[in-house]
Amino acid sequence: MCGIIGYVGQRQGLPIALDGLRNMEYRGYDSAGIAITQGAGIAAVKRAGKLQNLEDRIDEVGVESLKGTTAIGHTRWATHGRPIDENAHPHLSYDGKVAIVHNGIIENFASLRDELRAAGIELRSETDSEVAAHLLARAYNEGETAGDFRASALAVLNRLEGAFTILFMHDDHPDQIIAARRSTPLIVGVGEGEMFLGSDVAAFIEHTKHAVELGQDNVVILRADEYEILNFDGTPATGRPFEIDWDLAAAEKGGYDSFMLKEIHEQPAAVRDTLAGHYQDGRVTLDEQNLTDEDLKYIDQVFVVACGSAYHSGLLAKYAIEHWVRVPVQIEVASEFRYRDPILDERTLVLAISQSGETADTLEAVRHAKAQGAKVLAVCNTNGSQIPRESDAVLYTHAGPEIGVASTKAFLAQVAANYIVGLALAQAKGTKYPDEIAEIYRSLEEIPAKIERVLECEEQVTGIAEVLGAVRTMLFLGRGVGYPVALEGALKLKELAYIHAEGFPAGELKHGPIALIEDDLPVVVIVPSPRGVTVLHSKIVSNIQEIRARGAKTIVIAEEGDTAVEPYANWLIRIPESPSMMQPLLATVPLQYLAAEIAGHCGNTDIDKPRNLAKSVTVE
Ligand code: F6R
Repeated sequence: MCGIIGYVGQRQGLPIALDGLRNMEYRGYDSAGIAITQGAGIAAVKRAGKLQNLEDRIDEVGVESLKGTTAIGHTRWATHGRPIDENAHPHLSYDGKVAIVHNGIIENFASLRDELRAAGIELRSETDSEVAAHLLARAYNEGETAGDFRASALAVLNRLEGAFTILFMHDDHPDQIIAARRSTPLIVGVGEGEMFLGSDVAAFIEHTKHAVELGQDNVVILRADEYEILNFDGTPATGRPFEIDWDLAAAEKGGYDSFMLKEIHEQPAAVRDTLAGHYQDGRVTLDEQNLTDEDLKYIDQVFVVACGSAYHSGLLAKYAIEHWVRVPVQIEVASEFRYRDPILDERTLVLAISQSGETADTLEAVRHAKAQGAKVLAVCNTNGSQIPRESDAVLYTHAGPEIGVASTKAFLAQVAANYIVGLALAQAKGTKYPDEIAEIYRSLEEIPAKIERVLECEEQVTGIAEVLGAVRTMLFLGRGVGYPVALEGALKLKELAYIHAEGFPAGELKHGPIALIEDDLPVVVIVPSPRGVTVLHSKIVSNIQEIRARGAKTIVIAEEGDTAVEPYANWLIRIPESPSMMQPLLATVPLQYLAAEIAGHCGNTDIDKPRNLAKSVTVE
């Protein structure tokens, strides 16, 4: 996710902003920039690529031209618009008097861009963020709020929809920064005669340990010796002061022991951000859609290609698309796809799912599909990467950079994105009524809050892992949409704990794998909702009885209120009720914890970097 730093004080802002950006490099980014003012024109530098590119640019323009004690800085992880210089932040207004940096998604940016264009303002980037700079300049230059920085900022903030942390700088007011947050974090760092802003404390931890967390929909007016917190309507608000007791390494991980644990906790936001803006005015929309509704309507078969966790998310795409759209969906591990010579034509949609967008197997599958005339739709977490570039259309997941090698938040975001694709297809083909689509979208939007509740099972899972200790092998069983969850749970355990783990459809057990069951073998069972396909539920209850009778220790994941499973569970992990199709977004979470905890007992002390694995696999 983007990193933000702000500084108002007595010292030169440039080195402070650069240090802050360096400390936030761990978040992942594809471009960076800084803006500085001392009231004689805003100076800004920005560059795509690593911070070194920005520093090279600073050397070119000379530090003398970047003097000022008020600065804002940004590392960007591209969401709207490619990772190129023009799209890097800060963005300046048409009159050059305003600079902004933004983290998040401005959902109504398209209509705001239209409004600005109609007023004769030229947009210089492809981002959703740039509109905020021009809107602020207009509010300050004309109308009721003219000449009033605070009133203009509030007026603009009240027009923005979506999730954002945003910092405003105005050249007529070089002694202050106005900043706001909605749904994404913003922290004030309180120094001696200087103040800081950061998207996390790593931005300013070297300078002060005194911090104030802003609440939801709060605005802060920051000066060197004071800060004032407001609500969006201008009424006073208060933040939550706290002392930072982390060092930089701990701050980068948000206080968690590993990036992976931090990323597990970021899953509500990853799903929420992925869903944001894709259902508007009663319609589901994709991102860069060079596929028209007519194209989608014409599709008569879907192929899903992906690897590893992305493949497991693709299995869920199959369940959803076949159920909602009634077209056949085939799914193939990307490395097998093109060598098998699958039958593709111009009525085939290939859904290519990849967190990195660089996985060679998936990329080659995309190329093969395109060469056969199929349409390719990418689901990807990395803007500007190769797979979306070569696809006909793309739907970006907004999980933010995933640093832990084992996928967690990107996987859940992929599932959410795949469901959006399913709904877009159902809409184009008319296989679901608009109200049915609205209902499904609503249940998707309820998922982030439910994930928050599932995250509370961490302590329980730690306890289970402690009792299990260094297990040698483990089985995972599921039925229906619980089957891909079982596969994902087993993959996480293999990756992190380096032990043998296997996921099966529970019904397949009796055809062989049941021979593996022995005394004390831990078996995880993902139980479908008793309110969904009831026959599946009762069948899996029988499956649990079968394995318990043969000595297995069962870790059962079941909905709240499902009492039928209680007698057969050695451990019962509860997840909130949800429609069947949504259950994987909840049931996966305890399995991520379980793998992370068991890894520790099996001797893996660095779950962020499991042995032999790479985050981006660019060889076939
Ligand atoms: C598992 C994992 C891998 C990736 C796979 C595909 O935790 O991370 O299995 O899912 O290598 O990577 P992407 O999604 O980047 O194509």
